[in-house]
Amino acid sequence: MSTITVRRPDFAWPSDVPVLPDAGDPSRSCELVALSFTLPYLEPYLIRTMRAAAKEVDDELLRAEMKAFSGQEAQHYQQHARINDVVRAQLSERGAAAMRALEDGLEDDYRRYTDERSLAFNLAYAEGFEAMTFALARSAMTGDDVGRFVPEWANLLAWHLAEEVEHRTVTFDAYEAIVGRYPYRVAVGAMAQAHFLRYLLRMAAVLRRDTTDPATPTRRVVVDALRRNWTNGTIPRTLRAHLPSYDPRTVPLSDDVRSIAASQGIDLR
Ligand SMILES: [Fe+2]
Ligand SMILES: [Fe+2]
Repeated sequence: MSTITVRRPDFAWPSDVPVLPDAGDPSRSCELVALSFTLPYLEPYLIRTMRAAAKEVDDELLRAEMKAFSGQEAQHYQQHARINDVVRAQLSERGAAAMRALEDGLEDDYRRYTDERSLAFNLAYAEGFEAMTFALARSAMTGDDVGRFVPEWANLLAWHLAEEVEHRTVTFDAYEAIVGRYPYRVAVGAMAQAHFLRYLLRMAAVLRRDTTDPATPTRRVVVDALRRNWTNGTIPRTLRAHLPSYDPRTVPLSDDVRSIAASQGIDLR
């Protein structure tokens, strides 16, 4: 039986939920809200990949973990789709249309990947993404980051990031069981991260222009994100996941990560 628990939180968001998790840091806020906007497309794609992959896996425990992984991701994207609707309704008409165009582009790409790419490619994409979110979770689950957000965003992100840590081994194990080629994992994983971040940063730029400064160029958003995510450890941790020795099982978790997860009722192994 899997040790991963599928939880169904009951978040209630008012129609005026703040668009920015931390009004004092619009740049960081827009990046996280942009992340939220990618998830109703990315996470269903991960679920489709896990469903196809499960047919190739004999190990019963791994199959159970893949099922629980999909159960968690399904909850994540449904909750993010709900808060995204509340946020989108508060954007200008132009901002909402720009966001919608990026969402449609991402959905088209992921549908195409499911239909046309190999299972090995889709599994390597999934692990590239999961390694990056595991790195993000370890950087963001601190009092300095999630701790500064308005409660609506803090609760959503703390719950989601804690579950990302909880299921950190699943796509890695599925890739190892079915494909197992290290150079391919790194090559497709790096491409996956670049593909995903290209959408996320353009979405963040739409949000920055809509909520903060209409003149913000996309390159400003990219430079801010690179600087911040280098300093907070997300980029170095993501790069370390490209090493042949990487195994999410052996990556230590900080007390902050454990205590923020515990605040959501999640006891991390
Ligand atoms: Fe997720
Ligand atoms: Fe995940």
